[in-house]
Amino acid sequence: MSPLPVVAVLNGPNLNLLGEREPDVYGSATLEDVRERCEVVASAHGFALDFRQTNHEGVLIDAIHELGASAAGLVVNAAGWTHTSVALADALVIPEVPIIEVHISNVHQREAFRHHSYVSPLASGIVVGCGIRGYEFAIRRLVEVLG
Ligand code: DQA
Repeated sequence: MSPLPVVAVLNGPNLNLLGEREPDVYGSATLEDVRERCEVVASAHGFALDFRQTNHEGVLIDAIHELGASAAGLVVNAAGWTHTSVALADALVIPEVPIIEVHISNVHQREAFRHHSYVSPLASGIVVGCGIRGYEFAIRRLVEVLG
């Protein structure tokens, strides 16, 4: 039997503190809660989940290089690097797999520096301001895009 295709969910800096960090902005659910929801949605659609978080930009870039060989698609919440990282954008081009960008908060209602994203031009779709439900929507959309 062939292994299940992989959906990778990548989380950038400070998202390990979800639930504690600015709960008025990001809610009270933890990153482990997010992982569990992603697991349910991915497995319901016949995908394996590769769920990661890092506070180190190079670690995320190495992960993207690695996932280029194994993931069918990526869900990316690059957190603060969304707005700053050309290196991250350069890495995300390499795997040539569909990307759905997620932000828990509505970045467009927030400070102007959050309105620009280096990830958005590379994304098949963007889910913004839907709380942690956005990750579920993103995986569902990725499955549709993958056909
Ligand atoms: C975020 C929005 C970013 O602007 C912020 O830096 C984050 C989280 C979100 O999920 O709403 O860390 O990506």
